[in-house]
Formats: sequence, C-alpha cells, structure tokens
Amino acid sequence: MNFQLEITMATLSNNPVTARAHTNIALIKYWGKKDESLIIPYTSSLSLTLDHFYTDTTVWFDESLSTDQIIIDGQIPSEKSRQRVHDFLEIVRGKAQIAIPASISSTNHVPTAAGLASSASAFAALAASASEAAGLHLDATELSKLARRGSGSACRSVFGHFVEWQRGTNDADSYAKPLPDSGLNDIRVVALTVERGQKAVSSRQGMHLSVTTSPYYPAWVKTCQADLLQLKSAIEKGDFTRFGKISELNAMRMHALTLSADPSFTYFNGQTLAIMNLVKQLRHQGTECYYTIDAGPNVKVLCQQSTVAKISATFAQVLGDQNVIIAKPGPGVQYL
Ligand code: PMV
Repeated sequence: MNFQLEITMATLSNNPVTARAHTNIALIKYWGKKDESLIIPYTSSLSLTLDHFYTDTTVWFDESLSTDQIIIDGQIPSEKSRQRVHDFLEIVRGKAQIAIPASISSTNHVPTAAGLASSASAFAALAASASEAAGLHLDATELSKLARRGSGSACRSVFGHFVEWQRGTNDADSYAKPLPDSGLNDIRVVALTVERGQKAVSSRQGMHLSVTTSPYYPAWVKTCQADLLQLKSAIEKGDFTRFGKISELNAMRMHALTLSADPSFTYFNGQTLAIMNLVKQLRHQGTECYYTIDAGPNVKVLCQQSTVAKISATFAQVLGDQNVIIAKPGPGVQYL
C-alpha cells in the first residue's frame, strides 16, 4: 500500500499534463440550475463546439508547493477566479485522494468577455489536464461530469461538433454526449463583437434571478424540451432552415426570461438589436442566416459555407474586420 502511494506521488510531481479544449456556442440554451452546488440544470441543452476559440492548460501536482499556484494568461488572476480554480482542484484532489498543491498555467485563445463563454473551454481544459495529472485517467463521460462542476457549459466542450448535455437528476447522470454525424457539417458561426467589457450580470446571477423570479420559467422548461427535440431532428436531417429558426427562437426565449425577471435586466445593447435587424434584413433579401446570443451583448450569426464570405463582409463593413471572426465546427478535448 505504502509502496503504491510512493509510486503515485512520484508520477504526480513529475508529470505536467497539457490539455486543449475548444469553446462552444449553445443553440438550445442552458439557463437555470436545479442544484446550484452540483450544477444540475433544469433543462437539457445542445451546442456546437467551435474550432477558433480554445484554452490550453498545463497542470502538475507538486509536493514542494505550499499552496496552488495559478497563472491565467500570464498573470495572477483575481481572488474570485483563483478561488474558483482552487475549489475545482479540491474536487479533483478529492477524487484522486491526494492533498498535493498544483501548479496551473492556462492560456485563453478566446476574446475575453466576447460573449463566447471562455469558462466552457477553461474548465474543460482544466478538468482534462488536472484529472490526468492527478492520475485519474477518466473516460470522456466522467470527464464531462467533472468539467460540469467547474462551469455547466464546460461539460459540452469535452466533445467536438454537435453535443447534447442531458440534464439528468444528479451528479452521476448529468453529462454531455456527442450527437451522431449530421448533414450540417458546412455550418459556420460568424462571431460579432459589439462590446469587449465584462458583463454586468454574470450568467450565474442571471440564471438564479430568472429561475427565482420570472413567471415564465416553468414555460421555458417545457418549451426547451420541445425545441431540443426539433433541433436534433433538423440536425439529423441536415435541414438548415429549421435548424436556424429553432436556434434563433430558443435564444430569444432565454432572453425573455431576463426581461421578465424581477428586477428585470437584459444582456442586449443598442448594437445587439441593430445586428439582429441586419440579420433579418439579409434573410429577407435571400441570404439565409440566423442569430443566437448568450449572456452578453455579442451576436453569433449562424450560416453555411456557401454564404459565410458575403455575410462576414457585410458585418465587417459595420463593425470593422477585427470584430468579425468566422468559426467552424471544432474538436473535443485533446492532450498536447
Ligand atoms: O456555463 P455557464 O455558467 O457559463 O453558463 C452558460 C450560459 C449560456 O452561455 C448563456 C448558455 C449555454 O448553454 O452555454
């Protein structure tokens, strides 16, 4: 027993592990936790993992440290971020039955607060690198459950392309799984940045307020399930029109929860609304595209390979080239 322990510790301290995870955009949104501590959602959700935005994270457990050392994008993070990473590492240490501090270095290749939840790629990459460095060797399902504990949307970033997070009812059955290959592999997401600042209401706060005060929350739970089934069928059949319509509608239904909360709030700003109108205008002129929006003012335009050049050029004229990024379906977690 002692011998085994020594072997494990030796492996732990000499084995830095680096993992890369890509972020994802939700098409059927996750908005509300049934269990805030375990992060069990009220509804299942569906996303597309994106190639353009990712996080690389290196972790090793080091007995010579007295406390966790955390560097994010070359800097010591805020106390709040440090605590969040530390709390997550405590879960990993608990699973591995170790009590050794870790050294973590993480680099985000995601425009900060661009509304493309970097917490999804960040916690998926941290879950993968930390669990492997701790000697846990989790399979993809277990990794998804672990990533979920850091940030709900992170459980979907373990997998590539279209991914469904099955809400489940507890820690053991709430995890994501990839959807079968679809006829929509030519899908493109044009990420438009209208604001770079931090959002005033975090998704955690926004969800809580929506669940506890919006009279429409029960209706959201009901319609989300129906939206999810319809979207899955559209993906399976490669039906882009239905895919776009359902995604856009589901996003608006989520934002209706913020407007109907008490106190009411919104993630939109004036430019968000202008972009939404421009998407509709393009559509009416025959260039098929749809929008989706997460917990921030920035808009993601859903289109296909055949129209992406025209659509991105139109938005570059309005917002400038630097605020328009084209993303394609991306891969799941990789070890580098
Ligand atoms: O995983 P969180 O806590 O960052 O919440 C994500 C919330 C949305 O991005 C708005 C929706 C989603 O399903 O990703």
